[in-house]
Amino acid sequence: MTTDNRGELVVLPTPAALTDEAARRFAELAEAAIQRNGRFTVALSGGSTPRALHQRLAQPPLSTAIDWSKVLVFWGDERFVPPDSEDSCFRMARETLLDHIPIPAANIFPVPTVGGTPESAANAYAETLVVQFDSQTPRFDLILLGMGPDGHTASLFPGHPEPSAPSDELVVAVHSAPKPPPTRISCTYQVLNAAEHVLFLVAGPDKAATLREVLRGPLAIARLPAQGVRPARGELVWLVDQAAAAQLSEG
Ligand code: 6PG
Repeated sequence: MTTDNRGELVVLPTPAALTDEAARRFAELAEAAIQRNGRFTVALSGGSTPRALHQRLAQPPLSTAIDWSKVLVFWGDERFVPPDSEDSCFRMARETLLDHIPIPAANIFPVPTVGGTPESAANAYAETLVVQFDSQTPRFDLILLGMGPDGHTASLFPGHPEPSAPSDELVVAVHSAPKPPPTRISCTYQVLNAAEHVLFLVAGPDKAATLREVLRGPLAIARLPAQGVRPARGELVWLVDQAAAAQLSEG
């Protein structure tokens, strides 16, 4: 099923089926990218939905089928908290995935959240991307995203400067986020829309009304930041569970 130019919509019956499908696609994209380029670059997201995906990837068969020595892990957004904080996306990924797979430490690129300001962290992370991709426009093989019930994605929130007046920067500091913690670092649309593949994972009934607006309603990116994700030369796929998709077929 397609949703005009807003990407491909794939509805799965349950959150567990959504996790299976996301893990299958992750492994398939990793294998293809490694065969083609010798490496797979992926940006993880925070939130609760990716936890199950991480856990699936951390167990056989995928933990052993993927060549983790060739996987480079980044974050599409991060909370500006120390890496051992319970709110840290890095900590969540470490505990659910990275500690359980044979990935070299040198392949892991957390956002530097200690010893500087949010602005200096954003600049440093942008520089890391430019260096690791050897390009001013980093093109990820895969960016994983979630969507909040208010239509935010990564740490791009309704009414905030990004997306209201999209930045030329690759990474920005975000203040006063409505979802705690309030200070965050986020990749901008410059990065999200340069990706080869973007995979949204959206589950739960609290997302249903917003998902309908994002996929079926008029374009209003400042109010619904997830609508701004439209990879220019990449594939956009929405993996959605039945509960989140509940309002999509209503007239
Ligand atoms: C974060 C995120 C954020 C998240 C959505 C969906 O730092 O919290 O990156 O954009 O992906 O809020 O979160 P859930 O998957 O928990 O609904």
